[in-house]
Amino acid sequence: MEVVLKILHFFSILFAGGVTVGSGVIQAAYLRAGEAPPPYIGKAFALLGYIGLGSIVALWVTGIGLSYLIYGGMAINGAFHVKLLGAAIVLGISAYANLHVHQAIKAKRPPNTALMKRLVQAGRLGLVLAIGGAAVAFSG
Ligand code: HEM
Repeated sequence: MEVVLKILHFFSILFAGGVTVGSGVIQAAYLRAGEAPPPYIGKAFALLGYIGLGSIVALWVTGIGLSYLIYGGMAINGAFHVKLLGAAIVLGISAYANLHVHQAIKAKRPPNTALMKRLVQAGRLGLVLAIGGAAVAFSG
């Protein structure tokens, strides 16, 4: 069971990171060109957002499972709490960004670029805290 959860945890990290880097690069290309993405690319951005949210939810489900299986609970160490803070930031930001994009699509207007940029930056900070926290928390 532990190995299955770990594999799923690592795949979720791959997807969460892939979405962050991929949408960042495409968003930056549009910003540099001073153009708004056409509707079909907007839909692809929305799909990337859902994949990101699904990945972070999967990280929490598999992460909580691993914590209880390996350590008997979530009180592992200080660095683990930094990792959890980072993961909580990523979850909150991803949920909020998805909600914003969903509402914008429903209202047939483009998402707020400045807000999305700030959310992406905050999400990156969360990922750095989560990965840095994991490296410190789990190194012997
Ligand atoms: C953005 C979110 C997250 C990222 C980037 C992340 C990253 C990582 C990484 C890189 C590892 C491998 C560490 C190692 O084995 O040395 C790991 C393992 C682990 N993670 Fe996460 N994680 C995230 C969310 C979570 C959450 C929310 C929890 C718990 C609620 C969690 C609990 C664990 C546990 C228990 C392990 C296994 C440690 C071990 O093998 O001893 N993770 N995580």
